Amino acid sequence: EIFSSPKGGSVFVANEIAKLIRQKQQEGKSCVLGLATGSTPINMYAELVRLHREEGLSFKNVITFNLDEYYPIEKDAFQSYWSFMHRHLFNHVDIDPSNIHIPNGELSREDIKQHCLDYEQMIEDAGGIDLQVLGIGNNGHIGFNEPGSSIFSKTRVVNLDNSTRIANSREFINITKVPRLALTMGISTIMKTKRVLLMAWGKAQIVAKSVEGNVTEQVPASILQQHDNCTFVIDEFAAAEL
Ligand code: GLP
Repeated sequence: EIFSSPKGGSVFVANEIAKLIRQKQQEGKSCVLGLATGSTPINMYAELVRLHREEGLSFKNVITFNLDEYYPIEKDAFQSYWSFMHRHLFNHVDIDPSNIHIPNGELSREDIKQHCLDYEQMIEDAGGIDLQVLGIGNNGHIGFNEPGSSIFSKTRVVNLDNSTRIANSREFINITKVPRLALTMGISTIMKTKRVLLMAWGKAQIVAKSVEGNVTEQVPASILQQHDNCTFVIDEFAAAEL
């Protein structure tokens, strides 16, 4: 889906989410969302907050699983994805805090492995993710699944690529403050979700590689070509190389 501006794409994704939440409400079911961070989805979250405030969209039946988090990081740190999600969405809607799941960047090394296993189990216990929102890194990463991530990968600790640390250093005082590790859902976790909406503004080269290039673990987003229900929601700049 190509939109003339990021705003149009953001409203489209927010409306798809709102439709699903309302449909599940009518069926008396919970709606399980997989959520992403980064600059790309900020306007989409703003639109969801608007739909909540002005059009009565309730998040009472919504369960969320975030894709990733830096490791280690304190929840309260401005740069944590925990803070990001509360700042942009959770603090402004009526979601039950016990329905919010974000990988925990505060745990000790000893506890991390079990936490990752538990995270996968919690997704399964919730009935799987109905709709997964994704952004894309310039190197094709989805979540923090950097190039080379296995198609079989699940939630785990990963090393961040240098290019990712440089790109994300804008949020930190300087690059040395960017964590070297992160927790992320795996490629297989993402491939199991029922529907994927990947958003991209600009980033034309990696969008073209992901959509039209070979399916390869070297471009993690290209693996989405094999997902049954995946849409790239992009602006005209992102579509420039297609
Ligand atoms: C970050 C996140 C990804 C995000 C990507 C793009 O590192 N872990 O989930 O999609 O990089 O970020 P941005 O939307 O700011 O370009």
